[in-house]
Amino acid sequence: MVLEEARRKLAAIGQEHVLQYYDELDDRGRKNLLRQIEELDPGLLELVGNGVKENERGALAPLGAVTLEEIEEQRGRFEKKGIEAIRECKVGAVLLAGGQGTRFGLDSPKGMLNVGVKKELYLFEQLIHNIMEVVNSTGAWVPLLVMTSEKNNGDTVSFFKKNNYFGYKEEYVFFFVQKMAPSVSYEGKLYMEDKDKLASSPNGNGGWFNSLVDAGLMEPLRKLGVEWLNVFAVDNVLQRIADPIFVGAVLESGCVCGAKVVAKADPNEKVGVLCLEDGKPSIVEYYEMTDEMIHERDENGKLLYNYGVILNYLFKVENLIKIMDENLPTHVVEKKIPYMNENGEYVKPQEPNGYKFESLVLDMIHMMDNCLSFEVDREKEFAPIKNVTGVDSLESARKLMEKNGIEF
Ligand code: UTP
Repeated sequence: MVLEEARRKLAAIGQEHVLQYYDELDDRGRKNLLRQIEELDPGLLELVGNGVKENERGALAPLGAVTLEEIEEQRGRFEKKGIEAIRECKVGAVLLAGGQGTRFGLDSPKGMLNVGVKKELYLFEQLIHNIMEVVNSTGAWVPLLVMTSEKNNGDTVSFFKKNNYFGYKEEYVFFFVQKMAPSVSYEGKLYMEDKDKLASSPNGNGGWFNSLVDAGLMEPLRKLGVEWLNVFAVDNVLQRIADPIFVGAVLESGCVCGAKVVAKADPNEKVGVLCLEDGKPSIVEYYEMTDEMIHERDENGKLLYNYGVILNYLFKVENLIKIMDENLPTHVVEKKIPYMNENGEYVKPQEPNGYKFESLVLDMIHMMDNCLSFEVDREKEFAPIKNVTGVDSLESARKLMEKNGIEF
């Protein structure tokens, strides 16, 4: 794109300030900036234009789950089936580690967080311990794919290398980098990170499969025989990965995907709830639910919209390929965005100062024809670290680690 075209594109969307320092830039800087302007999707900015709206919903209905009790009764059968699949290398694991963890506020990748007290124990390390339990019990390595972003890829890869993959087999670990999206102020103006660089941030965890394909990882997965991918978040220290019981239950159900869920701690808990939307599985956010839905109960007094997702899904690769060209909804999310101010200084805000654009893995569930909702015990499997203190924090996670006999 040449300068004149860039000017016209920006003028049409009221973003002329992006070229403010163009004359000061060297050749490389100019090229960089013009390339970013060329790649810029004006459609994203329109999402902020008229005040941010959430995506519209279809008709919602409750969806039950295979309950803890039911799982316990069938545990042996599920486990056997899951172990078989893992031994045949049909299951790969995808660690989503491209986020910036702005609520926690770290400069390094979140997986490098030391959650230990008496000894060092990094989040990445504990996740490897968790997956090693499956490797040890099945005698088979589970391919582990790690999604990073442009911002944290270098640090993540060198951290794994420096620590010898925490004992994991290197040839079963694959890194890939997700895409970025621009960030804007509350008024919808593009933030700059530098004179030749738009402020950008990872574009959400929804693009993980397309990024994995773009990185050329389908070929090694095919060679290994992987048919299912278990996607999970970096910040849940109790995360069960490639859990044979879950894998076995999903395979036996004939569903094309599965989601681990926990029963809500109370009706108003702020979790995304797995339900049906226009007859297909879907996840509705707590703020999208009416009061009636939140409190509705069945004849046994159990909440109808009872099961919250914990970002642990199992997808059939075949079905992921089918939806690759479909667009996921874009969410406009309020965040803290580092930017260059009018004096050319780099500022790291303490409070949210604008919006990022993200697509989310949970929206992929709605693109699947069916989904096995699989209940797990939150005390054993759900200790997310989102905040420094309080709910879903390092503090609360440590309490649960202690309860589960993890040494730290
Ligand atoms: P979160 O929803 O907690 O987002 O991510 P975040 O960006 O890491 O943290 P906050 O909201 O700024 O505090 C849930 C999971 O999805 C991954 C995260 O690394 C985490 O494992 N993720 C999130 C990505 O891989 N890419 C993204 O663009 C966003």
